[in-house]
Amino acid sequence: MEVSGAHAIVTCGASGLGAATARWLSRQGMNVSIVDVDEASGRLVTNESGGLFLKAFVRDAEDVNWALDEACAKYRPAYILVNCGGVAPNIPMFGAHRLHPADVFRSILETNLVGTFLMASRFATQRPARRPDFPSKAWSECWLRPSGEDRRSQRATRVRPLCTSATKI
Ligand SMILES: NC(=O)c1ccc[n+]([C@@H]2O[C@H](COP(=O)([O-])OP(=O)(O)OC[C@H]3O[C@@H](n4cnc5c(N)ncnc54)[C@H](O)[C@@H]3O)[C@@H](O)[C@H]2O)c1
Repeated sequence: MEVSGAHAIVTCGASGLGAATARWLSRQGMNVSIVDVDEASGRLVTNESGGLFLKAFVRDAEDVNWALDEACAKYRPAYILVNCGGVAPNIPMFGAHRLHPADVFRSILETNLVGTFLMASRFATQRPARRPDFPSKAWSECWLRPSGEDRRSQRATRVRPLCTSATKI
């Protein structure tokens, strides 16, 4: 599939998995929007490989909406979302001497789970990108009300579209 010139959004792309993914997508010729709280590191990545940096907390719905609006205004509705967002505090879940703090666990869920959900949900409600090689219907419509062709292909392959971390519309 030709992806050059298409728009991809990478969450937590200022470091680690996200930064490596953003760089790789840029090398494929894609316009990459990075969403992360770490502005200094995020701008290093975009200065080096191009793209747009947006400072936002993925666990905050307003931040997510703002970031997606900005990203889509600069490029266009995104074709790919890669959720690399995640925190993993170095605290054992089980220990003989102390409990894992509940607020730390809740915070992990907020970023890793709620953040991923907010991004995927907002991404799925974008106006669909106009490309000749993929459907003109919004991704969410395709899932909720598959066309006759979609239904036939799902039956043939017995594959049901899932909302994954790398979601294509
Ligand atoms: N690196 C690995 O090999 C690996 C393997 C398996 C799983 N993971 C998991 O993947 C996730 C990312 O790993 P990594 O190594 O890339 O981590 P990392 O620490 O290098 O990068 C995480 C990025 O997330 C950003 N971030 C944190 N909270 C945020 C928030 N609320 N909103 C926006 N940005 C936020 C940070 O600023 C940072 O840039 C973690 O949950 C980790 O446990 C990593």
